Amino acid sequence: MALIFKKQSQTVPDFKHGNSSSIHCILLCFFLMLALIAPALAADKVEISVDASKTGATINRNLFGQFAEHLGHGIYDGIWVGPDSKIPNTRGIRNDVVAALKAIKVPNVRWPGGCFADGYHWRDGIGPHRNVRLNPDWGGVIEPNTFGTHEFMDFIDQIGSHAYVSVNLGSGTVHEAADWLEYMTAGQATTLAKERGTNGHPAPYKVAMLGIGNESWDCGGNMSPDYYTSQMKDYSHFVRNYNPAQQVAPGQENKEEMMKIAVGPGGNEPRFVDWTETVMKAYQHHSWSWDINGLSMHNYTVDWQHKYASTGFGETEYAQVLKSTLEMDGLINKYSAIMDKYDPQKKVALVVDEWGSWYAPLPGSNPGFLVQQNSLRDAVLAALNLNIFARHADRVRGANIAQMINVLQAMILTDKEKMALTPTYYVFKMYVPFQDATFVPVTFDAGTYKHDDVSLPRVDAIAAKNASGKLWLEITNVDPNEAAEIQLNVTGANAKSAVGQTLTAPKVDSINTFDAPKTVVPKPISGKVEDGKLTVTVEPKSVTVISVE
Ligand code: AHR
Repeated sequence: MALIFKKQSQTVPDFKHGNSSSIHCILLCFFLMLALIAPALAADKVEISVDASKTGATINRNLFGQFAEHLGHGIYDGIWVGPDSKIPNTRGIRNDVVAALKAIKVPNVRWPGGCFADGYHWRDGIGPHRNVRLNPDWGGVIEPNTFGTHEFMDFIDQIGSHAYVSVNLGSGTVHEAADWLEYMTAGQATTLAKERGTNGHPAPYKVAMLGIGNESWDCGGNMSPDYYTSQMKDYSHFVRNYNPAQQVAPGQENKEEMMKIAVGPGGNEPRFVDWTETVMKAYQHHSWSWDINGLSMHNYTVDWQHKYASTGFGETEYAQVLKSTLEMDGLINKYSAIMDKYDPQKKVALVVDEWGSWYAPLPGSNPGFLVQQNSLRDAVLAALNLNIFARHADRVRGANIAQMINVLQAMILTDKEKMALTPTYYVFKMYVPFQDATFVPVTFDAGTYKHDDVSLPRVDAIAAKNASGKLWLEITNVDPNEAAEIQLNVTGANAKSAVGQTLTAPKVDSINTFDAPKTVVPKPISGKVEDGKLTVTVEPKSVTVISVE
């Protein structure tokens, strides 16, 4: 103790005996330090201005779509356990998973792939005798086909969602795809419709969205843009939806009309400019006999050379991954500009039907199963992407995160009877009020968060009004070290209070596990009014959704 005291006493200035010049020097240093710190303190405050009287495009609910491929434990174990399982289920579909998905109001589920779709033959998955095949794309494992068309439609129905079916343009034929759509949707007593009835569903199914191939420039057939476009025209014409509720009378609109989505670009490679140009140029001059309503875009947050780990990382990897995910905005700008040339009225939606983080497979897992953990970093990443989509809501009218359960950036992880909801799940839950809400522009000076050589906007935000006129605001604090005091300047509405939920956790790599499922869960947050100003303080590395009353 004595030694410590002695050491300290050597560094503490002796005011009593000090001369006046050393006191001046200390005071000078003190004020100098204050001057240096002051801007940093001021930077902790962010003014967000919202003009609630100005509105933009509708944030289409389909931006919150999901993707469920026959891959790893995405379908089998994740959704399907079979009617004889001890795991509580309804007709073979897990009850816990259904309840969790209902709560996030999944607007549509893209199925059966992905790369799997272009090797899928729908007849393998109907009727009492299923064809057992292999899944060469994903680990070469047995595909029992016990989860087929009827099981998928039952699942969609149980979670209250809509079907986005990708047909096989790679190894299949137009004939096969046309038959599948007739089987699913025909209302009249055709042979295929009767077969559907014999298999348990006399009423026609609805198919809300149709994917015409998947990544046809690569795993879907490595086609040239011209070859794909010519195939796509045939599929668009012949693969018909016969459901009476989805028909469109001449000169009229039907909100239930099936959306046909052509394969579009996948990332930033130069070849995708030509691809997008070719498909959109064809669309510009399309005849009455074919049409598309959407162009797909795939973009993962991934470093293909050195995949990032999904657990046990620090601030460096946090900053690098978030920097990479923000490239989504540039890609949307790039491909939207091409679409604008051929479709200035924005009739064709850009549908980002595969997006999310793609990390290294978890040690010990089958590399073909794309198993990864999901951390607070993924929650921030999801919010940043959803905000990008919302800002492009006039053109981006669909998106499907990859993938729903146990694969890549999943909502849900399962292990036999156990289930854990991921940080990304909670982001989707918090964003439910934004589904079909009207975009409201916000302005703010985001500031900068810096780590090593990475600089990122420190704060992100979007606002929207729902059908009853309530104003919702999302604020992401990217900075993992500093809280942000948000001052809300709302015009066009009388803002007196702000309440909602915020999602953060102790560390950037905090995760929810089966044993500790509540490490990253939302908690309530509210703003306060001081001097007539509404402020809300958001924690470091957090996602916050509030309603402003
Ligand atoms: O989501 C995994 C795979 O990524 C999909 O099957 C494919 O479309 C994409 O390359």
